Amino acid sequence: MKFGDSTTLKISSVDKKGRGCGEVGGRQACAHFTIPEEVVEARLLSRRQGKLMFQVERVVEPSPARVTPRCPYAGRCGGCAWQQFDYGRQIELKRGLVNAALAAGGIRHRIEAVMPAPELFYYRNRMDYCVGPRGELGLKEPGRWNAYLDLDDCYLLSPDAVKLMNAFRGLMKKIPLEPWNSAAYNGYARYLVIREGKRTGKRMATIVTSDAPLPARQEIIDALAPFATTIYHGINPTITDLSLAPRLELIHGDEFLEEKIAGKSFLIHPNSFFQTNTVMAEKLYETVAEFLSKDRPKTLLDLYCGVGFFGIALAGRAQKVVGIELDAEAIVMAGKNAERNGVANIAFEAAKAESLVWERERPDAVIVDPPRAGLHPKVIGSLLAHKPERIVYVSCNYESFVRDFADLGKAYDLEEVRAMDMFPHSPHVELATNLRRKENAPAIGGAA
Ligand SMILES: C[S@@+](CC[C@H](N)C(=O)[O-])C[C@H]1O[C@@H](n2cnc3c(N)ncnc32)[C@H](O)[C@@H]1O
Repeated sequence: MKFGDSTTLKISSVDKKGRGCGEVGGRQACAHFTIPEEVVEARLLSRRQGKLMFQVERVVEPSPARVTPRCPYAGRCGGCAWQQFDYGRQIELKRGLVNAALAAGGIRHRIEAVMPAPELFYYRNRMDYCVGPRGELGLKEPGRWNAYLDLDDCYLLSPDAVKLMNAFRGLMKKIPLEPWNSAAYNGYARYLVIREGKRTGKRMATIVTSDAPLPARQEIIDALAPFATTIYHGINPTITDLSLAPRLELIHGDEFLEEKIAGKSFLIHPNSFFQTNTVMAEKLYETVAEFLSKDRPKTLLDLYCGVGFFGIALAGRAQKVVGIELDAEAIVMAGKNAERNGVANIAFEAAKAESLVWERERPDAVIVDPPRAGLHPKVIGSLLAHKPERIVYVSCNYESFVRDFADLGKAYDLEEVRAMDMFPHSPHVELATNLRRKENAPAIGGAA
């Protein structure tokens, strides 16, 4: 088959990116926006890692789970790969993905059900809307770095966030905010990052640009301030297509965003990680608290602690908590957050998890919540050498968890695995797992 050729594709499975997959000429063939039981006519786009990638042209036989999506961009936009499918079916597909990964890793546990999200729209508290070379503002088609969608609506953040986005689009037409061109590496306006405190009504907008001063500053403030309690100008001077801005200047309003979860108030720095679904983050906290409730740890280590979410929310359950995080700005926030919540038995350190001196901390319980790549081998080595009684492993990537448990399982029993839907209409799924040290766990490795 040549690129551009069309064929009929019968979908029999989904992959971890949420693409429906079948077979063409003996090779795995996948297309976004399809699920099992569907037959589609699709055009060959590319070959990636041995897979053939197709673009759907026509749904010939729709799945019974196909529904009319609320968003007019569903079926094209990478923000909601599964919005055109019934929510119950989405949850079922996620369960299948997690269970297949557990089985492939030789783990006997299975998920009975993924905990559903109570809110299917406007559930996110952060969106990174990108600017395309023709002044598009929105998101991209999935898997296509240069296919920008100019969204005048979006159901992920909030109606007021859409007003903010549309006000910024209007500004780009009026003042010299030349769109960034990520193919030519030139231009100015790159991203509009919007974060919301769902429970505080606060909203932070960060205009991310290349390295030059912001023009028409007052005009920008006048246009965006009705929808944003904080406005930052962020500079990403590199050619890398990232919304992260190493240089930031506050141009309007509060310095930080405030959100409330688990009865605690958290300040969030524009560049710091924070759990993206406020309602489900509370459920995640409750799950982790339940896992830890079997013991009362003397020292609880919160590894990859961000702005202190788990450590602060759970400080009442341990004599002492230590939080470790790479992002120094997040650690400054974590300190402020402990103080504003009156949590005194907690200490934070900006450090790599893999550089931690375990002999100093001697934790008897550890929460690990690493990025998608999972645990650094040195962290696994340290956990196996020091063997805290309990590890609660929170993972946004079930494949990383399964890989890491292949090692951790030498000294730990997996007591429980729960899966939670933090991101409706996407294939992502969060795991919370409860690991307990095996009785007579063998001595493994040396302290890292
Ligand atoms: C999934 S987030 C979890 C944050 C936090 N537990 C929460 O719930 O808000 C992962 C965090 O790990 C941090 N991180 C990434 N690599 C790290 C490393 N090598 N050592 C320590 N922290 C790291 C990131 O900055 C991010 O804040």
